[in-house]
Amino acid sequence: MEETVRHIRNRAQDELALVADMRSLQELRVKYLGKKGELTGLLKSLGNIPPEERREAGLLVNDAKAWFEEQLASAEESLKFAEKDRLAAARRIDVTLPGFSITSGRRHPINAVLDEISAIFVSLGFSVEEGPEVEDDYHNFEALNIPPEHPARDMQDTFYVAGAETGANRLLRTHTSPVQVRVMEQRRPPIRIIAPGKVYRCDSDQTHTPMFHQVEGLLVDKNISMADLKGILEAFLHTIFGPNTPVRLRPSFFPFTEPSAEVDIGCVICGGAGCGVCKRTGWLEILGAGMVNPRVFEMAGYDPEVYTGFAFGLGVERIAMLKYGIDDLRLFFENDIRFLGQF
Ligand code: PHE
Repeated sequence: MEETVRHIRNRAQDELALVADMRSLQELRVKYLGKKGELTGLLKSLGNIPPEERREAGLLVNDAKAWFEEQLASAEESLKFAEKDRLAAARRIDVTLPGFSITSGRRHPINAVLDEISAIFVSLGFSVEEGPEVEDDYHNFEALNIPPEHPARDMQDTFYVAGAETGANRLLRTHTSPVQVRVMEQRRPPIRIIAPGKVYRCDSDQTHTPMFHQVEGLLVDKNISMADLKGILEAFLHTIFGPNTPVRLRPSFFPFTEPSAEVDIGCVICGGAGCGVCKRTGWLEILGAGMVNPRVFEMAGYDPEVYTGFAFGLGVERIAMLKYGIDDLRLFFENDIRFLGQF
């Protein structure tokens, strides 16, 4: 018996040394100490040996069982520690590794300039209005005194929206001026609004994109004169381009204003000396403006004998290009973040 027990102990010890996980540890426990385990079997077989040897043999087997139980317990303990170490190593954070950089978004330069323009006019008492980008012929042309044969109405310039056969007569607005009409339809003077937004023209080259942005302005009250127009525009242009920027009004024509003016600023690139951007004139055309045509007031239901007002419309891209010295309009719409990240 002594021999047998020693053999089992040796074998159990060797096998335990090879155990690397809880599962095989459990299997080993069953193999030696389970109901049909080897040491359990030995204990059961004690009945078959002579009574005088039984006590001694029993002690040996029980001793072996206790010993192995202890061995298993300490092996289990080491396995648990090893498992904890393994998990800790897997979760370890190497604080010396370079971090992940998170690139932050920025405002698009057009939106930034739009906001700047709006803020200036809001500080001058204007409110910000919006109108639909899909307009009808009446608001985009007719109510602005633009006759049917006017070239702007040509298919070459205007994007017409399918469905004209149903009489809908819809188009993508070619300017923000229809917002003037929509505001006058809904309110009585005094009116002091700007209308920023997208406009569309069938045009595409270095200096034209089919979609671009405008800011419309409209002020209507009693006794409004061209001097008021010039004062407001000067205040605006001096804030955007600097207080010493020269501003001039040149006679021009728009069907919805009379008289009309083209507004120029002294070239911000060459300071008026003459360069490629201002085509050697020293002046840059910056917006269109004028006194609201009495015909437009009549169509909106305002009495032109009582009210006068002025309107203006400016191109946001043009202002952004001059402000930031950008020479290609298309850069605004290519969405190259190396360009957009600079503003
Ligand atoms: N709507 C004109 C354009 O798009 C600009 C303008 C607006 C001119 C208001 C005068 C008054 O060219």
